[in-house]
Amino acid sequence: MNLSKSAALFAENRRFIPGGMVSLNRKVEPEIAFVRGQGAHVWDADGNRYIDYHAGFAPYFLGHADKDVDAAVHRALDDGWTLMGSGTTPWEGRMAELFLQCVPTLDRMQITTTGSEATYHALRLARAYTGRDHIVVMQGGYNGWHDDVACNVMTPLEQIGPRVSKGEYPFVPLTAGMPAAVAGRVHVLNFNDLDAVAWAFEKYSVACLLTEPILQNIGIVKPKPGYLEGLRNLCDKHGVVLVFDEVKTGFRHALGGYQSLCGVRPDLATFGKAIANGYPLGAIGGRKEIMDLFDCADPKKRVLIAGTYNGHPLTVAAAIATMEKLIREKDTLYPRLEALGARMEAGLTKLLREKDIQATVARQGSAFCVYFMDHLPADWHGLAEHHDMAMDLKYRKALIEKGIYHFPLPTKQGSISAAHTEADVDRTLEATSEVLKAL
Ligand SMILES: Cc1ncc(COP(=O)(O)O)c(C=O)c1O
Repeated sequence: MNLSKSAALFAENRRFIPGGMVSLNRKVEPEIAFVRGQGAHVWDADGNRYIDYHAGFAPYFLGHADKDVDAAVHRALDDGWTLMGSGTTPWEGRMAELFLQCVPTLDRMQITTTGSEATYHALRLARAYTGRDHIVVMQGGYNGWHDDVACNVMTPLEQIGPRVSKGEYPFVPLTAGMPAAVAGRVHVLNFNDLDAVAWAFEKYSVACLLTEPILQNIGIVKPKPGYLEGLRNLCDKHGVVLVFDEVKTGFRHALGGYQSLCGVRPDLATFGKAIANGYPLGAIGGRKEIMDLFDCADPKKRVLIAGTYNGHPLTVAAAIATMEKLIREKDTLYPRLEALGARMEAGLTKLLREKDIQATVARQGSAFCVYFMDHLPADWHGLAEHHDMAMDLKYRKALIEKGIYHFPLPTKQGSISAAHTEADVDRTLEATSEVLKAL
């Protein structure tokens, strides 16, 4: 595989940018410089084409450069939708109306530029609403890059010790430069473990529990039956704000988010990624009495939401077009993606069995991953103890050589988009068969 032009671009960019790329969580091997995306495919600087399952870390639910979404952005430019930065605009109202129509479990919403901003605001709202400081997050969850949540995702077990139920894990920051005090107010618990949550709620004055409803930053780790309901009950009992981080699950698994599938209503929920099909937009929504703190008459209770680019007209135009398309096509689009996901799951499972490789395919709708272990994990420990990470990495790198792009980091989710076809899935399975033979 020729990657010489990629290598040259990395060398060039390293002259100006630390690491040679923006967002250093994109730093993986092989080093590939991408230059174009269209539908289910991406191209690198050397002209290699890949069927893309990374999808830019999952926002491309309709596929790269969706023509309806891009046309809406062009129209917005032509129509003079510029950033006003004063008062309101018709487009933010339209976006909010559509969003709440899609996710009827929420009463009010606000628009941010990223998912991290949305989770940041969720913590601040919860603290203002409850008058408490402590927050609970899950080992193996990712909720953004800011202090309080940038911790404990794929943490080596040597750093956190064995599985803890009535207790918490050591806080392991993902970054240097975080104030030491953060560790004292953020409690990292075991996922799928109501005893741990009950323990933390008794011990600390908790403002909110923030969790992805499915842990989708360590593959696809699903909640056990009754777990999310149990969280709801414990939060109600202790007056804790329940926040679902639907940045990855929202709009991908259902128009109404995972909350519409599991039937558990959070107090607040955060969104991003698939909502604007690759354009930078996040959202926070929730119960009226909490969301109204953004506009509380009492300045001591008012929660600040500000941002020059909040509700930027071009990204809002993209979100409106994405949601309108999802609403228009939901009856065919979600079932088609489920069918493509099932085809992928069945095909991978068959190949892995035929080759006698110990592996299990995890999947929710269009999101999937292969765990090299003989069962599905229920928490980070279950995964870290059993999953063959080295094999996973080798598998991903070998697929890249065959023109199938999965992010080359163990456990990262594969994302099928509406632009993928059965032929793409079948070609992927063919390549996988060759890769498994070689492995
Ligand atoms: C579940 C979840 N929450 C929050 C975020 C942060 O979103 P962003 O990268 O847009 O800031 C991510 C990003 O991957 C995520 O997966």
